[in-house]
Amino acid sequence: MVKMFCSMFLIFQSLLWLLSRGDPTVTCVFRQSCILPCNVDPSSDTILRWDHLTSREHNVHSYYDSEDQLGRQDQQFKGRTSLFKDLISRGNASLKLTGVKIQDEGRYRCYSSTERGSKKTFIQLKVEALIKVNIKKVENRIICSSEDIYPKPELTWFIYPPSELELHNRTTVHQTEEQLYSISSSLLVSDSFKDQIYSCTVSSGRNRIRASFCKRKKFMDPSKVIAIIIEAFLLWILIFIIIGVIIEAICKTAAHQQSNKAANQQNSAESQCLQITAG
Ligand SMILES: *[C@@H]1O[C@H](CO)[C@@H](O)[C@H](O)[C@H]1NC(C)=O
Ligand SMILES: *[C@@H]1O[C@H](CO)[C@@H](O)[C@H](O)[C@H]1NC(C)=O
Repeated sequence: MVKMFCSMFLIFQSLLWLLSRGDPTVTCVFRQSCILPCNVDPSSDTILRWDHLTSREHNVHSYYDSEDQLGRQDQQFKGRTSLFKDLISRGNASLKLTGVKIQDEGRYRCYSSTERGSKKTFIQLKVEALIKVNIKKVENRIICSSEDIYPKPELTWFIYPPSELELHNRTTVHQTEEQLYSISSSLLVSDSFKDQIYSCTVSSGRNRIRASFCKRKKFMDPSKVIAIIIEAFLLWILIFIIIGVIIEAICKTAAHQQSNKAANQQNSAESQCLQITAG
């Protein structure tokens, strides 16, 4: 008995899951307005009730006696809902939701009742926030960032020409109170003198946005050129001094040897003289 009950429950659950998966989806943009479509039987006496089905039911908007009935409306939807009143009698019970929030995501039920009977239709609402990507170079890092994104974003780098050195990236993701995400990643770049393109792609839901930064081959700036000239000049002076010292030293030894030689010659001449006198 319990077994049967369990399997029936499971079947019921999967049926529910299948049904909820089969709901048409409407994608709304964060902070903008959005229309949740619903068709009802044309009638001059329509009862309408829109509900948001999360862990419990939240009344979004009700309508009967040809008027909006907002006494039981959930706080979350206050002042943000409206119906196309002149179209209800013709069968259009679509709901307009303004200032879409992340919390608005989920399953909605449109319930209608006319003299012909009642009807329920379901719809899934998904929220997306538009992506804007910033890329900039700060010191020796290239920073790519994006804010106010939904759903949870991912970030990838692309470097051309590829470089092994530049894979040291750091990515962080934060979520704000409004449930929006911000993502930031930084890449350590080498100071090599070559052209390189750094591309950063942020993807969230169906959206992908790419931003690129090009590092151009560097031309030397004038102050560096001057510094190099001065360095070269000082080096030359130093070399001149060293060469001068060396030459002087060589000359001195040469002169010394010369005078020694002369003295030797004199000595031998003297000894010759001595020999002569001795002979
Ligand atoms: C109902 O009317 C609105 C406003 O004209 C329109 O945007 C919407 O598509 C209509 N919905 C249906 C289900 O026909
Ligand atoms: C970023 O760094 C992670 C590890 O820190 C690495 O797995 C990944 O390949 C890097 N991505 C790029 C494109 O540099």
